[in-house]
Amino acid sequence: MKKLLDIKNLYTIAEDDHNKKILNGLNLTINEGEVHVIMGPNGSGKSTLANTCFNSPKYITTKGEIIFDGEDITDKSPDYISKKGIFMSFQNPEEIPGVSLANFLKTIRKAKTNEKINIASFYKEVNEYMDQLGMDRSYAQRELNVGFSGGEKKKTEILQMLILDPKLVILDETDSGLDVDAIKVVSKGLDLYKDENNSILIITHTPSIIKNLKVDKVHILINGKIVKTGDASLADEIFKNGYKDYINEEN
Ligand SMILES: Nc1ncnc2c1ncn2[C@@H]1O[C@H](COP(=O)(O)OP(=O)(O)OP(=O)(O)O)[C@@H](O)[C@H]1O
Ligand SMILES: [Mg+2]
Repeated sequence: MKKLLDIKNLYTIAEDDHNKKILNGLNLTINEGEVHVIMGPNGSGKSTLANTCFNSPKYITTKGEIIFDGEDITDKSPDYISKKGIFMSFQNPEEIPGVSLANFLKTIRKAKTNEKINIASFYKEVNEYMDQLGMDRSYAQRELNVGFSGGEKKKTEILQMLILDPKLVILDETDSGLDVDAIKVVSKGLDLYKDENNSILIITHTPSIIKNLKVDKVHILINGKIVKTGDASLADEIFKNGYKDYINEEN
């Protein structure tokens, strides 16, 4: 199996507080075609891991490396990493006044493919995705995320994911605050996206999204390190018992 993401011995500190050690020798390998889940207590470093994969300026990598699709991306720009094929769903997507969702989707597709877009077939594709996701087509004409509810923003992100067709999707608590119907939309979107060549990394505290997916591996992240890896049953164990057994091991 081909390794898609290979994180080796990663140490990360906060940009605005160099004494704040967050990731602490983290190792993680995701192969092509796999679905991985990361769970862990609040503050254990899950969002930091997601942001570090994108080389967010908020964090500094002090040791280790991130190999993605055969290339060291540890020091590459977020823009480069996105074009290379990682898509991240942010906890709070930004509002962009003056830019319609349709235009935004066109821009990101163009930036990714570097090809001229056939407008008619592009809108047909967008409309088909919106229909499949049960999104009202009129959203395409609204300003990106402006006045969108939390759930609508998440649906819009799933649409962006489908338009970009990345190699790896990282979802950081995409399910939090979503009603049951919106969760179905996210699950449906992941279903439409997933094939044997691409991979998903889901960060979550709840069973809602992962129960509809075939999960290959579940990791427990505590104090900036993966302390346990298992199959889907490990998530069930955590939902039932919490982290106490793993936290004790660490302390
Ligand atoms: N810029 C920063 N400056 C100082 N500390 C930070 C910074 N960013 C993150 N941290 C700290 O690093 C730790 C890990 O944060 P992170 O957001 O990665 O946790 P998390 O696992 O995603 O938690 P949650 O489940 O609550 O989302 C926390 O203690 C947080 O306060
Ligand atoms: Mg987080």
